[in-house]
Amino acid sequence: MEIFKQIAPLRARLHGLRKSGVSIGLVPTMGALHQGHISLVEASKSQNTITVATIYINPTQFNNPNDHQNYPKTPEKDILMLQNAGCDVVFCPDDHEMYAEKSRVNFDFGNLDKVMEGKFRPGHFSGVALVVSKLFNIVQPDRAYFGQKDWQQFAVIGLLVRELKFNFEVYSVPILREPDGLAMSSRNLRLTTSQRTSAAILYQSLQMARKAIKSGTPLEAVKKAVSEQVNKTSEMKLEYFELADSKNLTILNDVDNSVSSILCIAGYAGEIRLIDNMFLD
Ligand code: PAJ
Repeated sequence: MEIFKQIAPLRARLHGLRKSGVSIGLVPTMGALHQGHISLVEASKSQNTITVATIYINPTQFNNPNDHQNYPKTPEKDILMLQNAGCDVVFCPDDHEMYAEKSRVNFDFGNLDKVMEGKFRPGHFSGVALVVSKLFNIVQPDRAYFGQKDWQQFAVIGLLVRELKFNFEVYSVPILREPDGLAMSSRNLRLTTSQRTSAAILYQSLQMARKAIKSGTPLEAVKKAVSEQVNKTSEMKLEYFELADSKNLTILNDVDNSVSSILCIAGYAGEIRLIDNMFLD
């Protein structure tokens, strides 16, 4: 596995590989890797000759400086995991390499970045769009892989790719979960033992809500039950729970069987913010 910290030698290497006719899959990450990230590498490996993973904690997508500062870092373990997964190239730049100039570019995705994550993390998706645009231009992949875990991020990136005419496909990979259902996340490393136990309530609430909606319970009542269930769990606090049109993320006030809808949840376990989601069908 080849490791690059700088853009120019990575570009040169990928240019050479591309000329020899290989296809390139891109897996952007912020490190503190877990099996969920590795499943993206596996998806890329199944469709491309070469897989490039990136590890970069992007400062412009953090609206909370504490979250940025305390974001888990496990660089040696990350490299080992990527190597064992058969990843070919890793790009792990520093802030100067990615943001030599202070960034002035902002993105606006209309409704897509005004609801849910966008509402509670102002500027977050603009920062994500900026860094993935840089990575797309540096790597120029044939395919790029993102997790369903961050469904709104996937929707925003899909729009970015269409609007800016990036010439490749983006793929969404299913959510990998712990045995109790908690979605794997780098932030899980920061949970205390008791918070870790409590955090499974987010997944349980999604399951409960899905079942209730399917059996005809009105959405309003389901939302109330989820809120009560999460907030009565030790150290947990619900931030939002919404049913949305999965394509354009319009928030639905009633179940609408004519659209593909998704349940999205965000909550705090102590100081740690966690998200999860589940398609209704
Ligand atoms: P990060 O949180 O490290 O996630 C990297 C990728 O792994 C994302 O596409 C995310 O959706 C996916 N992922 C996370 N947990 C997963 C799980 N349990 N199952 C499957 N996939 C999972 O998302 C980011 O980094 C950043 O915003 C980034 C896109 C790298 C831009 O900085």
